Amino acid sequence: MSGEGALAVFARARDLERQGRSIIHLELGEPDFHPAAPVVEAGCGAIRAGRDRYVTSRGLPALREAIAEYLGRTRRLRISADQVLITPGCKPALSLAMMALIEPGDEVLVPDPGFPTYASMTRGLGAVPVPFRLLERNRLQPDPDEIESLVTRRSRVLLFNSPGNPTGTVYDSAALQRIAGIAVEHDLTLISDEIYARIVFSGAYDSISLMPGMAGRTVIVDGFSKSFAMTGWRLGFAVAPPALIDALDLLVINMFTSVAEFTQLAAIEALRDRTHAVDAMVEEYRRRRDLFVGGLNRIPGFRCALPEGAFYAWVNVGDTGLRADELCRLLLEEAGVAAIPGAAFGASGEDFVRFSLVSASPLLEEALARMQALASRWHTR
Ligand SMILES: Cc1ncc(COP(=O)(O)O)c(C=O)c1O
Repeated sequence: MSGEGALAVFARARDLERQGRSIIHLELGEPDFHPAAPVVEAGCGAIRAGRDRYVTSRGLPALREAIAEYLGRTRRLRISADQVLITPGCKPALSLAMMALIEPGDEVLVPDPGFPTYASMTRGLGAVPVPFRLLERNRLQPDPDEIESLVTRRSRVLLFNSPGNPTGTVYDSAALQRIAGIAVEHDLTLISDEIYARIVFSGAYDSISLMPGMAGRTVIVDGFSKSFAMTGWRLGFAVAPPALIDALDLLVINMFTSVAEFTQLAAIEALRDRTHAVDAMVEEYRRRRDLFVGGLNRIPGFRCALPEGAFYAWVNVGDTGLRADELCRLLLEEAGVAAIPGAAFGASGEDFVRFSLVSASPLLEEALARMQALASRWHTR
């Protein structure tokens, strides 16, 4: 298995800060928002009320029902509470699903660039990650012909993330339909990581599980970290056919028994979203995206398409004439701007840098100004 490039950059950035340097942190995917006040209140109230016992391994029935209702309301999914299992974050939902589905020697199709855990967990389970590429010349969309050409008789799972980290791509419906057809034809199970499904900048979100034949072969993993700014609360969920939920439940019983009761009660309040916190947050991400991506495209040698979702800018820096890791080092050491070399997300990321839009606009403007000032240090092609 392997770690995450973002954490290595973060560690160096913290070193520089300890030396008194000013650093703008655009490396981690951790929003600068906090949960809405009623959510915090619900969590505190639940602790005060003694709601701190072991609870059922699948998750509180009231939360599972609230998630089924929420996915109907926000994603048009028709699912029952029996198909929902609560986990301590989206990553555990993902790894439980992978453990349940993947056997040594299997092949797992994963996006390149993509979230590093996909390939790492696959290797950890003794299976083989098979990357399919999200290329600039294809608008960072997957190419279903390429995916089909990569399927073999060992292919078992296709894993993807839309809107995607690190590219911000929202898979278009033609691609989703083709991927669904490939899954049916080759009997693949899909793991659809929908952690950014609420952060889309235009149109409704289409889950692949809505496509014909998909509900029975799709596991959705999602959580509260990004949509409700609850990263450290560690809350997520999986949605799967009931038989697979039974397998995930067995893993929960053997691994962590249950998720904390008081965070689950706060999650019910988060889903109600009485203060419309999600819409306000998405609007703020849209402003940051427009500001930052516009500014990046004015920096010599940088090229960035407008992301359609999530909160990342995926920037081609090939025209600076520097390698992306050299450029990131220069940005951090000389300008105090922390970002991640794209190769951390797969071989297709070699010429790219990922910036997270998790800082407020004045900081993003300051980061742009610092990078502009440094641009004389590279000779654009
Ligand atoms: C694509 C993707 N999936 C899952 C996660 C992890 O979510 P959680 O913090 O809920 O485990 C992240 C976090 O950065 C992510 O980018």
